[in-house]
Amino acid sequence: MKILLIGFGTVGQGLAELLLEKEAVLYRTYGINVQVTGIADFQKGSLYNTRGLDLKKVLAAVKNNGTLAALKNDIFDEDALALIKKAKADVLCEATYTDIKTAEPATSHIRTAFEQGMHVVTSNKGPLALYYHELLELARKKKLEFLFEGTVMSGTPVLNLIRETLTGSEIREIKGILNGTTNYILSLMEEGLSYEVVLKKAQELGYAEAIPDADVLGWDALAKVTILANTVFSARQKPFDYPCQGITQISAADIAAAKAQGKRFKLIGRVWKEGEAVKASVSPQQISLSHPLAGVMGASNALTISSDTLGDVTIIGPGAGRRETGFSMLIDLIHIGQRRH
Ligand code: HSE
Repeated sequence: MKILLIGFGTVGQGLAELLLEKEAVLYRTYGINVQVTGIADFQKGSLYNTRGLDLKKVLAAVKNNGTLAALKNDIFDEDALALIKKAKADVLCEATYTDIKTAEPATSHIRTAFEQGMHVVTSNKGPLALYYHELLELARKKKLEFLFEGTVMSGTPVLNLIRETLTGSEIREIKGILNGTTNYILSLMEEGLSYEVVLKKAQELGYAEAIPDADVLGWDALAKVTILANTVFSARQKPFDYPCQGITQISAADIAAAKAQGKRFKLIGRVWKEGEAVKASVSPQQISLSHPLAGVMGASNALTISSDTLGDVTIIGPGAGRRETGFSMLIDLIHIGQRRH
């Protein structure tokens, strides 16, 4: 399976590390031999080699120099779009930064990949929140896979759970903690750390979005809520159609006051059906400490899925991070590999 990695930041590097770590398992267990033939990153540069790039050298170059320039023999002098058009690959792995307002450049990358006959795996929330139905249609016409497990709760397989494992159920409501950065900030502020210090730490750990404020204003959770609305409830809304409030108004004093009343602030995303209408919202809420969502701390996320068959099912797991989101793309790649077999 020849793949292109577009976007070689936290997530792209996380996937590359897992491909190295799991190379033998992928071949032995699933019969999949993954070869990364191209990488493009708008800051680090681009590489292309039809015989496959040496991922150990690629990761070392980025670690040592912050760019791909050291791999002189494999340098590709054009941008990501040119690479997607030129490369003969089976799968595009799109891991560029999310722009929730334009969904670019990711949407152009994905469209071009489908036009070139490539399957697409992405962790980018923009294209799913803004153009899901259009992109899915394009993929179906070309009989290609379009997989995006990492867009909600990183590698915690919540989309697979809802869309495949709970098949046959009528989903009525999905509700929970969908943003790792804000949950991490609220958790550490409760321990007495300042908002600014914790936000910086979240950025260093690779949880926070590239666009400043996207997490704390609630936009990232809003993108995920919209993805759930579009992919699970077949809604056709855009993120800013739904009400959204972030955590910037919550002070250390508010957190302490909530605690004194046996409560804890959480940024809650919710999607639900009201008759035929699909509603959604993002807002900070004071949750009673006895509620399961109150115990979800740090960068963890949690979702409670309410259905006609099972009542409530709650899934808790990582919601952000290098290895965690890299893993989401590995799940999708394995699914494509298995179906190709
Ligand atoms: N910035 C996001 C978060 C990354 O903090 O949850 C994962 O989508």
